[in-house]
Amino acid sequence: MDNSEITELSWDDFDEMRDPRDENNEFDHVVESTLRRRGFLCGTLAFGSGAAVFGSGLFTPIAAENSQASFEFEPIDIATDFDVHVPKGYQWKTLVRYGDPLFEKGEGAYGEDGLVAPEMAEFVFGENTDGMETFDVAGKTILTINSEYANPKINLPEASEGLAQTESEASLLKHIQGVTVLEVAQNGEGYQVVLDSPYNRRIHHETPMTMSGPVAGSELVKTAADPMGKAPIGTMNNCGSGKTLWGTYLTCEENFNGYFGATTEHEPTIGELRYGIGGESRYGYELFEERFDITKEPNEPHRHGWITEIDPVDPNSTPIKHSSLGRFKHENAEMTQAADGRVVVYMGDDERGEFIYRYVSNGIYTEGGSTEGLLSDGQLYVAKFNDDLTGEWLALTPESIGMSLEEILVFARIAGSKVGATTMDRPEWIAANPLKPEVYCALTNNKNRGVKPNAGGDDTSVNGPNPRESNHYGQIIRWTPKDEDHGAHTFTWDLYIMAGNPNVYENEYAGSENVTQGNMFNSPDGMAFDSKGQLWIQTDGDYKNEGDFEGMGNNQMLVGNTETGEIARFMTVPYGAEVTGLSWSLDKKVAFVGVQHPGGSWPDGKGKPRSSVIQIWREDGKVIG
Ligand code: FEO
Ligand code: CA
Ligand code: CA
Ligand code: CA
Repeated sequence: MDNSEITELSWDDFDEMRDPRDENNEFDHVVESTLRRRGFLCGTLAFGSGAAVFGSGLFTPIAAENSQASFEFEPIDIATDFDVHVPKGYQWKTLVRYGDPLFEKGEGAYGEDGLVAPEMAEFVFGENTDGMETFDVAGKTILTINSEYANPKINLPEASEGLAQTESEASLLKHIQGVTVLEVAQNGEGYQVVLDSPYNRRIHHETPMTMSGPVAGSELVKTAADPMGKAPIGTMNNCGSGKTLWGTYLTCEENFNGYFGATTEHEPTIGELRYGIGGESRYGYELFEERFDITKEPNEPHRHGWITEIDPVDPNSTPIKHSSLGRFKHENAEMTQAADGRVVVYMGDDERGEFIYRYVSNGIYTEGGSTEGLLSDGQLYVAKFNDDLTGEWLALTPESIGMSLEEILVFARIAGSKVGATTMDRPEWIAANPLKPEVYCALTNNKNRGVKPNAGGDDTSVNGPNPRESNHYGQIIRWTPKDEDHGAHTFTWDLYIMAGNPNVYENEYAGSENVTQGNMFNSPDGMAFDSKGQLWIQTDGDYKNEGDFEGMGNNQMLVGNTETGEIARFMTVPYGAEVTGLSWSLDKKVAFVGVQHPGGSWPDGKGKPRSSVIQIWREDGKVIG
């Protein structure tokens, strides 16, 4: 049975489809950027009339013949099949599939027909695995794993045509998304879920939450059900992840807009338009619950799109939405520290032409010290990248913008536009190098670059870090903070890699010099550093292996040496799938990797495909990351 067609519509495709924007080209920009392409492969890159020039030394050039020299594995070929592939000397097996029980009472919940009974949904592992982190809780291995969205074509009876037709169907969809906390343990043949562990927990669209920071209690988040504006319900579209220095989990609410609909005629506000709220909803929740109907509860969407903190140690703890970190389509949250001990969180807003943000706490983190206020009392900044390879963090303050603090945080995108933040090619994961003060961000792709403005009307002509119009391959930017201090307000930047296809193009779409025929990929998305300082890169791109993408095959995970620029392919996933979510066992001997929206009948070989987390280890038992 070929199930590839039922995974075709990713959440991002859906978001684009429901929110088509003006196709009018800005002709001038297109012409201008075409001229800027010249000279790309001559060793220099010239951008802008200011003539900022990239010296070849800044672009991490490497000789192709030297590539892969520094990796401990033999890079693998592309794949176009419905299976997972890892290098020689490595093994993999499934850890947990969508619908697998977390509790004994969840056994058998995933039926022969590939459907989960709605009343069983909170006892099983959620669908469409995404960001994940590992925690050492008194020697036990606790995983926290996001379930980004539910695929209605997979989960609803065919007669429902992909939209919940009953309250019970809506309830199913609400409970198979969110976050799973689960304990895993070794059983001699790798890790497996510990059924009925006291840590096991499902957090979903109906879980009670609290809110911290300036927006808690604000008029903007009050609803009929919560007149105090301090008790939002549910976390949704949980994309990337983060881990605090004090051992809690950060889940990042991304495309929350798609969960809200209007049951009567509705003229969208500026705030709704900027966040893509007001179109058709993906599941039809608004037909069964008023809070999802923006004509009844216009403030409900303001209660989503936040960084939410979960304590994996206490299954009875209430998750906290941290308003100080801003509301946008959060990809992940990478926490590190400023030189003086303040907490720094880097965050991307994954939408075409949106921004990169940084939060800096006012208080200082010390091991074992109080963490009170570290994510609720601080300053939010947005990134401005100059074409001369410098950049600065622009503070979003009422004084600089003329909006109230609550408005700045709820409508962070609008605040970012007002201060002139740099529009980016869809910022996905951000990863901070643990061995040196340096930060990487995957800019996955942006077909609108140089073609049309972002949702706020900001110009999106090509610029330094986003140098290609109609960018369908993506790039990875990195920056080094001034004085090696993540708390500094300025930085220098360069591009670690521009993905491309040297088989198809000889211009800048061939990619940077560290792209070879042997490591081609498109649409970098997930990223994480391992303990050795290697950068693992996961892709969520075009897997058709034809046209501009010929020779790239299925989505993949690669490993990058950030000193030499070398990048090598480590893993490929089944046709249709993206690779997303990466974490390691406590002894670093096993990598846990997420396979989202696979095609075919992966991993069971029969029935519907099931998104799953797999485990990968070395046959010689050595550390993998
Ligand atoms: Fe959920 Fe931007 O990826
Ligand atoms: Ca995705
Ligand atoms: Ca992603
Ligand atoms: Ca993506």
